[in-house]
Amino acid sequence: MPLLVTGATGPIGRLLVSQLHAAGQPVRVVSREASPVFPKGVEVVQGDFTKGDLPSSAFHEVKGVFVFPAQGGVDAFVQQAQALGVEYFVVLSSLAAALEHVRDQGSASALHHLAVENAVKATGIPATFLRPGTFANNLLAWAHSIKIEDTVYGPYPTPRQAPIHEEDIAAVAFAALTREGHQGKTYAMTGPQSLTRVEQLEAIGAAINKKLRFQEVSPEAFQESMSKFMPAPIIKMLLDYWSDTVSQPDLVRPTVEQVTGRKARTLVQWAQAHLADFS
Ligand SMILES: NC(=O)c1ccc[n+]([C@@H]2O[C@H](COP(=O)([O-])OP(=O)(O)OC[C@H]3O[C@@H](n4cnc5c(N)ncnc54)[C@H](OP(=O)(O)O)[C@@H]3O)[C@@H](O)[C@H]2O)c1
Repeated sequence: MPLLVTGATGPIGRLLVSQLHAAGQPVRVVSREASPVFPKGVEVVQGDFTKGDLPSSAFHEVKGVFVFPAQGGVDAFVQQAQALGVEYFVVLSSLAAALEHVRDQGSASALHHLAVENAVKATGIPATFLRPGTFANNLLAWAHSIKIEDTVYGPYPTPRQAPIHEEDIAAVAFAALTREGHQGKTYAMTGPQSLTRVEQLEAIGAAINKKLRFQEVSPEAFQESMSKFMPAPIIKMLLDYWSDTVSQPDLVRPTVEQVTGRKARTLVQWAQAHLADFS
């Protein structure tokens, strides 16, 4: 029986597809791209899954689906999946949806991911919700300034966060899609170390063998410079997160190892997997 993967051309989706394919699991993916490249044998359905109008053949013999939390929502997609006989979902959500902190109440991420979770729950189909905290991939925002001047500019050098490797998120999704015992579970997930932003930069420096510098700027200066590139609610969410984690560091969660049986990858390992991005 094929598994259907949405969000398959993104970092997590691609790794999930590779892990499923390598395990001999038939995989079907949905993509808006005309000719996305996947390993031989992976079936591609072209379309925008958020519209809820994929050809019914996309769901032929599909019991399990990986749901990517697309902006615009997944309501129509999960309703179509329900009508066409899907029996379980594994859903990419966010730790923000757990509302563990005051900053999450009404945050852009919490609102979006709770709406996605609720759309899935409304189908009544068993589901596993993956709630990762901050992605290590967010640190790719530093790549350009590391490449040109070995320096990053940002507010809040001292808060501690536990960035998670995309490969570990994919590995938990793989387990939830292919093994028994995960339906009905909600998994809060992080990386294995809670590191200051300076230590996160040092981890990248260790991987690329360079001394890197964190140049502190005020939150106001950050807000002004980022307003050209990011919507205001996202900038606010970032600043609230960094400011809160000065006094309340991210908790490290054991979920990746508990679910996969393998230690969560460190930030140095993540940076080693992204050498080309930083050098
Ligand atoms: N950054 C964080 O710290 C963090 C933390 C927790 C959760 N998250 C969640 O993780 C997501 C990012 O995951 P990622 O980096 O693997 O994915 P991504 O690269 O942002 O997107 C993956 C793929 O999903 C499809 N897609 C995206 N938006 C869509 C839309 N509106 N309609 C239809 N298809 C769409 C696209 O595929 P095609 O173009 O091939 O159709 C895209 O290549 C975030 O959006 C957020 O929901 C992020």
